[in-house]
Amino acid sequence: MSTVYLNGQYLPKDQARISPDDRGFLLSDGIYEVTGFYEGVPLALDRHMARMRSGLNELRIDFDSSGVEEIHHRLIAENGLQSAETSLVYLQITRGVAPRTHYFPTEPVEPTVYAFAKAWSRPSPEAWNKGFTAITVPDRRWLRVDIKTISLLPNVMAFQDARDAGADDAILVRDGVAIEGAHQNFWAVFGDTAVTHPISNLILPGISRGLVMGIAAEKGIAIKERAIMAEELATADEAFFTGTTGEVRPCVEIDGRPIGDGRVGPITRALSQGFRETIARAQEKAAERAEAAGV
Ligand SMILES: Cc1ncc(COP(=O)(O)O)c(C=O)c1O
Repeated sequence: MSTVYLNGQYLPKDQARISPDDRGFLLSDGIYEVTGFYEGVPLALDRHMARMRSGLNELRIDFDSSGVEEIHHRLIAENGLQSAETSLVYLQITRGVAPRTHYFPTEPVEPTVYAFAKAWSRPSPEAWNKGFTAITVPDRRWLRVDIKTISLLPNVMAFQDARDAGADDAILVRDGVAIEGAHQNFWAVFGDTAVTHPISNLILPGISRGLVMGIAAEKGIAIKERAIMAEELATADEAFFTGTTGEVRPCVEIDGRPIGDGRVGPITRALSQGFRETIARAQEKAAERAEAAGV
């Protein structure tokens, strides 16, 4: 039985109880974060915490988040995941238990804070090297998807559409623009330039997207942030997704048509390699800090 965190307590998952009056349950009134851990070391936890705080501010959820990093580390430890190659912590903060009104509660409410940790697996090297497929589907989401809210039904429906079509992923298209994936950011490569949608209210500012921007700069790979028209995908040389558990994930076929020569391309490979190097650096830094602290 895994150990989860709920409102100040660490407890077996089957003992965690949430009120039916929780505004997360009734109204999707809350946010979440997912942070990747590699042999117990978080990747860019500070960036995930900054995005979490920004979401809380946007939704005016009053919450002292100073202890949240510690919850992450403790859940990894409590669940024996320090040596797991790849694991994650899922954190959800809702406005809390309050009457079901379409306005915010007028009395102060304690937010509900729930978190769990689990291992996840990368695709096999064979599957990664073969690449993944996607279909385009209409983006049926609201206009503030920059906030990482728990309201994910349009994303779930898009991903289900992909599964129903036998594809690995969905690319959400709004007004002819390939915005992002159902749970990852989307990139296409034209010539020597990797292109992704600019930060706006229409995409989630992915932490992996940000890391990949830095990796590209280090490796001298040109990046452009601009709208990618779905029509343009026919002329793309490569395509890939970025996300916390997807890392850098090659996309070699969209709507049944191969991207470029239908094989994983050199820019995708270089950025994926850089992603692994970033993880290794985070692990080295954590080891140095532990040594300095005499742990
Ligand atoms: C819609 C969407 N875009 C992009 C991402 C990737 O974000 P990150 O790199 O922070 O995992 C996610 C992750 O859940 C997502 O749901």
